[in-house]
Amino acid sequence: MTKLSGTAKSTYVRTMFDRIAPRYDLMNAVMTLGQHQAMRRAAARLAHPPRDGLALDLATGTGDFAAALRDVEPTCRVVGIDFALEMMRLGQTKYAARVLFSAGDMLRLPLPANAFDCAVNGFVLRNVTDVRAAFAEMYRVLKPNGRAVSLEITSPRAPIWKNIFALYFDHVMPRVGGWLSGNPDAYRYLPQSVHDFLTPEQVVDLMRAVGFREVYFRRWALGSMAVYVGTK
Ligand SMILES: C[S@@+](CC[C@H](N)C(=O)[O-])C[C@H]1O[C@@H](n2cnc3c(N)ncnc32)[C@H](O)[C@@H]1O
Repeated sequence: MTKLSGTAKSTYVRTMFDRIAPRYDLMNAVMTLGQHQAMRRAAARLAHPPRDGLALDLATGTGDFAAALRDVEPTCRVVGIDFALEMMRLGQTKYAARVLFSAGDMLRLPLPANAFDCAVNGFVLRNVTDVRAAFAEMYRVLKPNGRAVSLEITSPRAPIWKNIFALYFDHVMPRVGGWLSGNPDAYRYLPQSVHDFLTPEQVVDLMRAVGFREVYFRRWALGSMAVYVGTK
């Protein structure tokens, strides 16, 4: 697919996720060899959801990261926001009692400032048209001292492993994903979006630029995932 930007990109992304929604959870399990939920829980712990607090999951999709926040702190109320309604409809069948799902664009959140104790997003930064605006909105809705955590795929750097990963991610996964989901275009878009995305160091710079302090990132899953943490 050609490189998209602006409204063309957000329309493409929303329509694609609505289309692949029924197979999205299955594909995550296959692609990560069942590790995706453990990664969300580990990232949710870094967000420090407090007792009786209020947490936000941006681009919640089918709600797994939001539910991970509840696993970490069952007394915390969690709001999940996404613009793909089919993804959230499936999330609601899984987590209606645990997550409050709401439609919205994470670049223009329909939420008040200084409202949330923590905010997370998973596997979305590559998909937004303005990464800085995404972090600026996260920052705005967090309370002072609130934690922001983002989880995103990144290209590993270790020699040999990076070639093995590229073989899997660029060639095997798009074929398997296209076949299982019935949507080959979506699983060609996935590796391209990772290649086109910022380096972890550039992401950290953007977080600092919108005001976050104590910003850091860690590579997980042999360097194929990055978790980003910042404090308002
Ligand atoms: C790869 S899925 C990740 C879903 C979920 N966070 C997870 O951990 O499985 C990306 C999600 O981001 C959503 N998304 C992308 N751009 C968005 C935006 N600007 N506002 C709201 N949701 C967005 C898509 O609709 C999709 O549900």
